[in-house]
Amino acid sequence: MVRTFVLPLLLAAVAAAEHWAVIVVGSTGYWNYRHQADACHAYQVVRSHGIPESNIVLMMYDDVANSSSNPFPGQLFNKPTMHSSDAVDVYQNCHVDYRGDDVTPKKFLQVLLGDTAAGGKVLKSKSTDRVFVNFVDHGATGMVVFPSHNLYAKDLVETLKTMHERQLYKELVFYMEACESGSMFKDLLPENINAFVTTAANEKESSWGTYCPPVSDHIGTKLLGTCLGDLYSVNWMEDSDKSDLSKETLQEQYNRVKKLTDKSHVLEFGSPSMHDDPVGDFQSNTDHDGPTFSSADKSNNEPSKVDSSVNSRDIELITKFYQYLRSDSKDRTPLAHALMETIQQREMSDHVFRDIVRLTKSSSPTLTASDDPLNDSCLRHVNEIVEQHCGRYSDFGLQYVSHIVSLCNQGYDASIISAHAITACHRHSTKARVFAP
Ligand SMILES: *[C@@H]1O[C@H](CO)[C@@H](O)[C@H](O)[C@H]1NC(C)=O
Ligand SMILES: *[C@@H]1O[C@H](CO)[C@@H](O)[C@H](O)[C@H]1NC(C)=O
Repeated sequence: MVRTFVLPLLLAAVAAAEHWAVIVVGSTGYWNYRHQADACHAYQVVRSHGIPESNIVLMMYDDVANSSSNPFPGQLFNKPTMHSSDAVDVYQNCHVDYRGDDVTPKKFLQVLLGDTAAGGKVLKSKSTDRVFVNFVDHGATGMVVFPSHNLYAKDLVETLKTMHERQLYKELVFYMEACESGSMFKDLLPENINAFVTTAANEKESSWGTYCPPVSDHIGTKLLGTCLGDLYSVNWMEDSDKSDLSKETLQEQYNRVKKLTDKSHVLEFGSPSMHDDPVGDFQSNTDHDGPTFSSADKSNNEPSKVDSSVNSRDIELITKFYQYLRSDSKDRTPLAHALMETIQQREMSDHVFRDIVRLTKSSSPTLTASDDPLNDSCLRHVNEIVEQHCGRYSDFGLQYVSHIVSLCNQGYDASIISAHAITACHRHSTKARVFAP
């Protein structure tokens, strides 16, 4: 008797559980081609495993597929091929929900919280549902970048905690590709909110692009002049594409990706209890409760991506270098200017931050040094001043955010660091813009 009641109830509960995905790219510019290719590939991974379009939210500026620099207008590729007929266009049916200026940290957090103030599609997830989040872009110590704003670690982790409090998920998985992405979660993300996170890099190193020029940026015989993917991102997606996601566990995917991503340290954070969950619970539309079985490690046959990988801080430079080098003489002048401007911006970033550190350290700290690895309010305050006087950080300049964090930790007050930042910005920004436009 009891059994006949329990089974339908159980089935009803299982049927009601839904799967959701939020995929976000924070960058713009043709030299960041790889981020939008990664995101559309991630979209294809979850779509092809059954998550309906209505349950996927994709935020990306969407300026690359149609860029005049793109030799394949309206198409994006996340992997090089010998023959163009073998190439997979990940832009096809890649449905963008928020594009252009709608790609903001505020809207991203509203999407996660199901807050319709975002003005578009938002999560409508419940306590029985599983949520997969994938963020791809540049980052720095304690922050990741959106087209015109920064998303700070504290705001992201607070939002995840709020989602858990409001029972907006049963379990959540977050894969983050960004430089210093470990700093977004390290010592910040609790282990008891049913969230499992992996990051492309630890808290003090770059992440890396791959399938880069000069040898791996081709589709057939056409050269794209920029990196087609990011190392951590293509490693997890190529693994998901060929694995049985109902059997592969999160821990197995993490271990494989960590091994393949040999230019940075892939890290995990959050709930250890989720290690044995199948990847398919998050990247497909089906739950696979119950015991799972290890699938064979198929990563051994993968071609090495080592030779075509480039530090993501340098990809703007190498993109502009190869665009210039490979151009016809009649088209070369604007490309030469773009290349020189990028080099000047890098020089300026070096000088500005050398001065900020030197000037600040010429006085004594007024606060006691802190054990807290990240003084969020100090970082925000100084960044606001830096960006006001120097402009937005370039992909290269972002590495120096760690210098600000370090000065804050050493007990220098935000107002002191900011005053020196104003001096340094004005001293060095006369010759060229210091940072990206
Ligand atoms: C890209 O170009 C195609 C063809 O002209 C157009 O239909 C599409 O709306 C454009 N997309 C974006 C994001 O500009
Ligand atoms: C963080 O930085 C601010 C601004 O410099 C300062 O007022 C505050 O005391 C610092 N907090 C800690 C815990 O060091």
